[in-house]
Formats: sequence, structure tokens, C-alpha cells
Amino acid sequence: MNRCQIITWLKQNDPIEIEKLEKWADDVRKQNVGEQIHLRGLVEFSNNCSRRCIYCGINAANIALQRYQMSRDEIVECAKTACDLGYGTVVLQSGENRKLDINFLADAIKEIKKTTGLAVTLSVGEWDRDIYKLWQQAGADRFLLRFETSNDELYRRLHPDSSKGVEERYEHLKMLKELGYEVGSGVMIGLPGQSYESLADDLLKFRQLDLDMIGTGPYIKHENTEIGRNIKKFLLDEENQVPASEGMTYKVFALARILCPKANIPATTALATLNPENGYEKALECGCNVIMPNITPMKYRQFYNLYQGKTCSEHLDFDMAIKKRIEKISRMPGVGKGASLRFLERTESEAIL
Ligand code: 5AD
Repeated sequence: MNRCQIITWLKQNDPIEIEKLEKWADDVRKQNVGEQIHLRGLVEFSNNCSRRCIYCGINAANIALQRYQMSRDEIVECAKTACDLGYGTVVLQSGENRKLDINFLADAIKEIKKTTGLAVTLSVGEWDRDIYKLWQQAGADRFLLRFETSNDELYRRLHPDSSKGVEERYEHLKMLKELGYEVGSGVMIGLPGQSYESLADDLLKFRQLDLDMIGTGPYIKHENTEIGRNIKKFLLDEENQVPASEGMTYKVFALARILCPKANIPATTALATLNPENGYEKALECGCNVIMPNITPMKYRQFYNLYQGKTCSEHLDFDMAIKKRIEKISRMPGVGKGASLRFLERTESEAIL
């Protein structure tokens, strides 16, 4: 599929054509990653952040927000919960906190590996190579770092702390891959200032980066951010601006699956926020094969508000409900760690070489 065709799909609004695209993606998903839905327990272990990304509710400039940092024992406890629920992976996510004690995180990872054996995914922003290595040696297997948009001008506008633009993100992704991490990235859909052309480029970039995991979701406004305060200033004219809609999100899931058949693609929380009733089901039927249940202790949840209205349910309730919903669409919760097939393929061929 070329850029022009991707743009046509993104702009498509004939429901019959859209259904064809979703069916195509669902077939590709079936053939490549099968029926299992891998569940990853998400632990938002701290909302401390040093960066000032103008779309994000936990950015450093939001002084109204109460900040928190979970203790090592609390983090390990969450991992045990994930293990008890039968999940194969725990995802440790936080803001990009320059004051984070890197050894604290290494210790938490080691303890999780020792007590649960789960796959550990980190989502903690950009760090130096040595630090990525330290965490990997502690047992971290995977790393998520979205590039948010491939349009350098937009990237710089959104990330005022970035001096080198989106190329710097790609360098980090490359570094993580070279170290042997399974690597995930992604973008937001309908970012104010995002054109159809730039979203098509994002999708092509997923393929070029040969990602193991692709996380995308709609942009959702947050009041205490620069964009949230004056969104009109950032929007393109109606013809060019990608809408941050549910429908657009499914198209991106489907195109990502077709372009990267073996990647793990989550049905994301931001999407479920737009459609709590059956967003997950629809996502899982147009290319997605992963869900990341939030297992952060309830007392911290309200402080990890990246955007407004983020869905929030108690982890045991959510777990029970999601397993039923998975069954209802004739799919099954994943068994094992659910590593990316692309990653296994790559490491196997490297071993032969
Ligand atoms: N709307 C949707 N997603 C957001 N993220 C941050 N802020 C928002 C928002 N306002 C996403 C970013 C980040 C991930 C952890 O959350 O893509 O990489």
C-alpha cells in the first residue's frame, strides 16, 4: 500500500468501503497473530514529569496536579496481581521524570522478575543508552516510546523541550532495538495540526521502523494544557485536519495491521474512553490483538490524567468484564508472555547469522 492509497483510506467515508478495510485487517490479523488477545497489566507508577508536552495533562507546567510516586513494594504488588489474573506482562509507565532514581526502577524490575517471571515493559520516556542497558540487565524486556507524529514541525510545536525534533525519537527507538528490547511506538490520532498526509507518513513510518508494538489512540483534550486552553489556535482548516474520532481510530488500527501484519497492536484506553460500551470489541475486530488493563491502585488513578474523562474501573471488575467481552466475540485471552512475532522472527534470524 502506498502513501496515496493510505490517504484515500483515511479520507474514506463510505461505510461499505470502510467495512471492507476492517474486514481486510481482521483477516490479516487472524492469519498472522491468531485469535489470542494478550493482556498486559498497566501500572502507572508515577506522574512526575520533567517535560512540557503541550497536549498532555501530566506535563511539568501543570502545577495544579498533585504528584505521586509508588513505592517499590507497591509496584511489585501490582505485578503479583497481574500474575494472579493470568496476564503475561506488566507495563511500568510514568512521566519522563529526570529525577527518577534509575536504581530504584532497576530494583523494582529485578524484584518483579524474581517473584513473578512476567515480561516487563517500560514506558518512561527518553533516557541515555547506559540507563536503557541498566534496566535491561535488571530484566526489562520491552520498551514503549511513541513518536507522537512524524511531522517534524508539528513534533517541535508539541514538544517545546525537544531540541532535535522527531529524529531524536527515532534515534532512541533505534538504540532500544539495537540493545535487544522489543520496541513499541505510535502516534496520537487527530492531534490539532495533524493533516491526512502526515498521518499517512506516520503509518509508513511504523513499517519502516519495523515495530514490534504499535500503540495509537485518539487525541483527547485536557483543560490544563496549552492545547486544551486554546484548541482552535492549533487546528488546521476542516478539510485538512484529521478528526480525533472513533471512526478515524479504527481506520488507523486497520491500516497499521495491514502494513505491519505481525506487530502487537493494542486496543487502547483512549479509544475505550470514546466508546466505553463496545470500543474494545470493535478495535479487536479491525486489527487489534492486545488490551492493557489498568491495574494501578485506585488511590493514584485520578492523578494520572493524561487527558479528560479517561476510563477508570477497579481492576478486578475490569478483568472479569473484559474476559467476558473477549469470549463474546469468540476470541480468547493470550497464554504466555505474548512476545511480538516480528521480534521472535528477527532474533531468530540474527541467531542463524
Ligand atoms: N490524548 C490522548 N493521548 C495522550 N497521550 C498523552 N496525552 C494525551 C492526550 N491528551 C498519550 C501519548 C503518550 C501516551 C502515554 O499517552 O501518546 O505517549
